[in-house]
Amino acid sequence: MNSISPNLLSISDLHVHYGKSHVLHGVDLSIGHNEVVSLLGRNGAGRSTTMKAVMGLVPPSAGSIQLGGRELTGLRPYRISRAGVGFVPEEREVFANLSVEENLRMGQQVATDGATAWTVEQMFDYFPRLRERRNTGAGNLSGGEQQMLTLCRSLLGCPKVLMIDEPTEGLAPKIVAVVAEAIRDIHRRGVSILLVEQKLTIALKVSSRVCVMGHGRIVFEGTPQALTDDPSLMKEWLAV
Ligand SMILES: Nc1ncnc2c1ncn2[C@@H]1O[C@H](COP(=O)(O)OP(=O)(O)O)[C@@H](O)[C@H]1O
Ligand SMILES: [Mg+2]
Repeated sequence: MNSISPNLLSISDLHVHYGKSHVLHGVDLSIGHNEVVSLLGRNGAGRSTTMKAVMGLVPPSAGSIQLGGRELTGLRPYRISRAGVGFVPEEREVFANLSVEENLRMGQQVATDGATAWTVEQMFDYFPRLRERRNTGAGNLSGGEQQMLTLCRSLLGCPKVLMIDEPTEGLAPKIVAVVAEAIRDIHRRGVSILLVEQKLTIALKVSSRVCVMGHGRIVFEGTPQALTDDPSLMKEWLAV
């Protein structure tokens, strides 16, 4: 992809500690306007922690996180969300006692500042299964359906950049393809995406750029092609 500057989200020299355990050792990562960047790595590399730090869910011990030039570190998660960052955590987060449609309506925000606007009906078009179950209590959905609902709820917040942590984990292959296609379409409609995806074929297919994490740092950054052209890199940092 060309002409991707200036960056939308810029993470620089990010450090995170959990107690005495130093898990992010100076992460540098940027996402341009209308870019899909996959953050790859082995389990424990620090991918989820990076997303949680951006979202204000874990406090950085050093470093800077900026959205469109505005510093996000120190802001509360809801302020970061309002500033235009969406997060779909690995743990499915639904309100079990509310219906599917009520969960979606709770996530709805007005698009501001040039962000792409989304409607509940568009969510049902992505995932017809959610339309079928719109009046069902979210607690009665399957794990995969809860995953889709979590994604849709975040998207209805009309983020400029959407961070998605392992969206296809535990899904049946047919649903994996539906989720992958939704991610591509969300990107086509102008949302930048930071994706953590364990299924390498999917990550490589949907991404314009990939970053590989190892030991709490970015150890490779480049095109999907450049990564697959380097088997030793794949073996060392991705164990494939
Ligand atoms: N809440 C936590 N408390 C202490 N250590 C944690 C916590 N969450 C993650 N870690 C540790 O931080 C490191 C990075 O974890 P994580 O960001 O979840 O990696 P990834 O998402 O790449 O698998 C791992 O060593 C993990 O065990
Ligand atoms: Mg993780």
